[in-house]
Amino acid sequence: MKIASTIEEVRKYIIEWKKEGFSVGLVPTMGYLHEGHESLIKKSASDNDKTVVSVFLNPIQFGKNEDLDTYPSDIDRDLNKCKNCGADLIFTPQVSEMYFNDFCTYVNVDNLTKGLCGAKRPGHFKGVCTIVSKLFNIVTPDKAYFGQKDAQQLAVIKRMVRDLNFNIKIIGCPIVREEDGLAKSSRNSYLSSEERKASLILYKSLMKAKKLFEKNEFDSNKIKQNIIEVINTEPLAKIDYVEIVDNTSLKPVNEIKNSTLIALAVYIGKTRLIDNIILGGKKNELAHA
Ligand code: PAJ
Repeated sequence: MKIASTIEEVRKYIIEWKKEGFSVGLVPTMGYLHEGHESLIKKSASDNDKTVVSVFLNPIQFGKNEDLDTYPSDIDRDLNKCKNCGADLIFTPQVSEMYFNDFCTYVNVDNLTKGLCGAKRPGHFKGVCTIVSKLFNIVTPDKAYFGQKDAQQLAVIKRMVRDLNFNIKIIGCPIVREEDGLAKSSRNSYLSSEERKASLILYKSLMKAKKLFEKNEFDSNKIKQNIIEVINTEPLAKIDYVEIVDNTSLKPVNEIKNSTLIALAVYIGKTRLIDNIILGGKKNELAHA
């Protein structure tokens, strides 16, 4: 496995690989890897001849009062995990490698970024789309892998790729969960043991929604009310949002029928956690269903 910290090095490897006719998969990450990231790397390694993993804590996607300064990191552990999952090249640039001091060009996906996390984290998706575009231009992968865990991010990236004609196939991968249902996240490391127990309320509320749906409750408002009620039984939880939207347009729906995304963000103490399920579509994504 190769490690590169400059764009030039990455381009050198990619040119060599493309000469050989190898297909390339890209897995963008911010590091502190867990089984969620690992599932993406393994999928890329099985789909492609070569897999590139980027480990870059992208400052421009964090708001002023967010956790950029405390975001966990452990590069040695990450490198080990990447190797074990079959990655061929790890790209770990410094901020100065990715952003000139007078950097002023951004990629913005409109509409889809207005609601959900976009409404709560202004500028977040502009930062995500900008770094992902840069990584796409640097690595020029055939395929890029993103987790359903960040459902809005996945929908936004798909739209960006379509609208800007990136010649890259976006592969969405299912949410990987802890045994008890909590979606794996680098941010779970912020939780105290009491908060860790309380964090289960996100998954429990989504399970309640799923049960209601399976009993033919299709009314979004009723399902949303039930989710809110479940979350509010947990004293350490504070709802940031609960939204029921079409999984492609991310527009609110009154009735759950075609691939509908139920997405939520909940503070457990100071830690903001997100989770979601898709109901009603062909794919009924739920690791613990
Ligand atoms: P990060 O939070 O490190 O996540 C990297 C990728 O791993 C994302 O596609 C995310 O959806 C996926 N992922 C995280 N937890 C997962 C889980 N439990 N199951 C499945 N996939 C999971 O998302 C980002 O970084 C950044 O915004 C990035 C795209 C790298 C741009 O900076």
